[in-house]
Amino acid sequence: MGVATNGSAAEQAPAPALKFLIYGRTGWIGGLLGGLCAARRIPFAYGAGRLENRAQLEADIDAAAPTHVFNAAGVTGRPNVDWCETHRAETVRANVVGTLTLADVCRARGLVLINYATGCIFEYDDAHPLGSGVGFKEEDTPNFVGSFYSKTKAMVEELLKNYENVCTLRVRMPISSDLSNPRNFITKITRYEKVVNIPNSMTILDELLPISIEMAKRNLTGIWNFTNPGVVSHNEILEMYRDYIDPSFSWKNFNLEEQAKVIVAPRSNNELDQTKLKNEFPELLSIKDSLIKYVFEPNRKTSKA
Ligand SMILES: NC(=O)c1ccc[n+]([C@@H]2O[C@H](COP(=O)([O-])OP(=O)(O)OC[C@H]3O[C@@H](n4cnc5c(N)ncnc54)[C@H](OP(=O)(O)O)[C@@H]3O)[C@@H](O)[C@H]2O)c1
Repeated sequence: MGVATNGSAAEQAPAPALKFLIYGRTGWIGGLLGGLCAARRIPFAYGAGRLENRAQLEADIDAAAPTHVFNAAGVTGRPNVDWCETHRAETVRANVVGTLTLADVCRARGLVLINYATGCIFEYDDAHPLGSGVGFKEEDTPNFVGSFYSKTKAMVEELLKNYENVCTLRVRMPISSDLSNPRNFITKITRYEKVVNIPNSMTILDELLPISIEMAKRNLTGIWNFTNPGVVSHNEILEMYRDYIDPSFSWKNFNLEEQAKVIVAPRSNNELDQTKLKNEFPELLSIKDSLIKYVFEPNRKTSKA
């Protein structure tokens, strides 16, 4: 872990070479992270162990001798988080027991763990109303336990506060430039028969995953709202999709009551406060600018107006 130095010999010594150990090889975020490391020539290995198996995690660390560990493994449910409602033990095993075991093993080895968590543990409330621009801060207590998935994620976030080696990144509604990926929030909402229209904080992975690598290099720990500043609504994204990708695209909206009839567990809608991440990374783009720069311009199929 990072040790503050003050003009000592240690400060003049070359920085130790990086070596990342990544969990979530077969997953969306874990796959992207490995690709980023390869492109940046950062040595990395994927963990083979199951998160809840302490001995396997220790063997992974022995074999890889990493400087940092990244956790992009967890149960998100297929086709969606509703799966977690009916697979509660499996969800707890990966998201609670597994994540805590990895944090504990990393702590015992003096390793920082960068943990891709979720910001879907909050919902708009009287103190943070929709449209107010008042977002939930890192120190706020989760107020959304409408789904079992979110409940496990809120529980584990609370417990991880006791691990000073863990960097918790609250990801929300992740978006990438790969519009063919069914996990991409944009791809999901373009394929739904009907969509709600609610402003939300979201994470542009093309911009933010490199930032998470930088956070590891800086040995940052604690809780971080890991979204782009500001909010964007479903309709605003679909309008961009129509303007940049498919001029003939159209969609239908429905309200939360109608949505509740086609899903099992309620979904979280919120704005996260971005002051902390923006202070650390002043170049961070607003959600709408990031969407245009990283997603819609590179995929543009329409001619410029
Ligand atoms: N995608 C989202 O909408 C979203 C939003 C916010 C936060 N997140 C969080 O970000 C993280 C990564 O998400 P993702 O979308 O990349 O997930 P994903 O595509 O579903 O991938 C999950 C990965 O976790 C692995 N995994 C599951 N249980 C495991 C266990 N017990 N031990 C070891 N590996 C296990 C899976 O491997 P196997 O196939 O071998 O099981 C897979 O590689 C998750 O914690 C998720 O909660 C995701």
